[in-house]
Amino acid sequence: MLKKHIAQDSGNDQAAQASNFATRLLQWFDAHGRKDLPWQQNINAYRVWVSEIMLQQTQVATVIPYYRRFMQSFPTVAALAAAADDVVLHHWSGLGYYSRARNLHAAAKIIAADLEGKLPGDLESWQALPGIGRSTAAAICSISFESTDAILDGNVKRVLARHFAVPGWPGHASVSKKLWQLAELCTPSQRNRDYSQAIMDLGATLCVRSKPRCQDCPLATSCEAKKQGNVADFPGRKPKRTIPVRATRLLMLENSSGELLLLKRPPAGIWGGLWSLPEHETFAENLPLHKPVEWPTLRHTFTHFHLDITPVHCVLNEHRDMAAKCAALQGSRETTQTLWYDIDNPPDIGLPAPISKLLAQVSNARHSSNADDQEVGT
Ligand code: ADE
Repeated sequence: MLKKHIAQDSGNDQAAQASNFATRLLQWFDAHGRKDLPWQQNINAYRVWVSEIMLQQTQVATVIPYYRRFMQSFPTVAALAAAADDVVLHHWSGLGYYSRARNLHAAAKIIAADLEGKLPGDLESWQALPGIGRSTAAAICSISFESTDAILDGNVKRVLARHFAVPGWPGHASVSKKLWQLAELCTPSQRNRDYSQAIMDLGATLCVRSKPRCQDCPLATSCEAKKQGNVADFPGRKPKRTIPVRATRLLMLENSSGELLLLKRPPAGIWGGLWSLPEHETFAENLPLHKPVEWPTLRHTFTHFHLDITPVHCVLNEHRDMAAKCAALQGSRETTQTLWYDIDNPPDIGLPAPISKLLAQVSNARHSSNADDQEVGT
């Protein structure tokens, strides 16, 4: 069943352990694996590709509703390629890591324009597309057309690091190289769709980071970390680094119709292509704000920094053109598009999660003050 020839003189028992690794994992998958997820129905490379991108750094339960909506709107790569940027990002709003959506869309356009609308048929061609690394390409190929490419996402790294007691942080090149070798060694030559799903599922459900359920694990009898009694030490931790805190004040500028001013972020940088609130400082210089009110600060954490956002709420008591002029003024610096956002009738646009949260807070505040008004009147 093993794909790779295992050199007899390698002298290590890793090869021997690997030889029935896949068999035991597949038996476990047959009994316990997930087989009813939306991307496991009507399997084709497009559906698998979208699922694998959504599942990067995101849990299955979170992905499911997003995946269903996305597939309903963009059932084919041609539909995705033809869609407007805003509409694609709207379907990603709240899922985070928006570069995934931008890359997915860019790749769909490349497929439509340069590959006659045909999806790649091998690992290298998938990897040539934006946003698709070696493990994602291997997951797409093995799950959609049973290729024998090995996968190594975060869950698989944990399973292999523990089973073979591989020391060190997988972010280090030498550790990563070792894990890729093991991933290849363990990958079978048959049932590769099920194997890829099985090893990811094992990492996601039993061999989890804290409190792994070793008693239920089909690989426990040969797991080196378990034998050593130090499962929690694998994989090795990333060297500690504290991330900096940045602060910004965002203006929630409301016009006389109750709409809020949004600006489109430039394509590169944080929240690229998404719609956000304008920065307060730029506005305060150009427009006298009437009774601005600070709302409590909220923290949003990116990979490399925390962003402390202090919202400043202000109702515009001048003509909306004035604000639009100021928006354009800010726009001329970095972005050109502005819109007035109607909370009760929201347009299909991409919003970062903290901005959605703030807009929801404005809506809640408005509805609760309306309720107060009614109470006073009755
Ligand atoms: N993470 C990445 N791909 C996955 C998949 N196919 N199933 C579960 N978790 C995953």
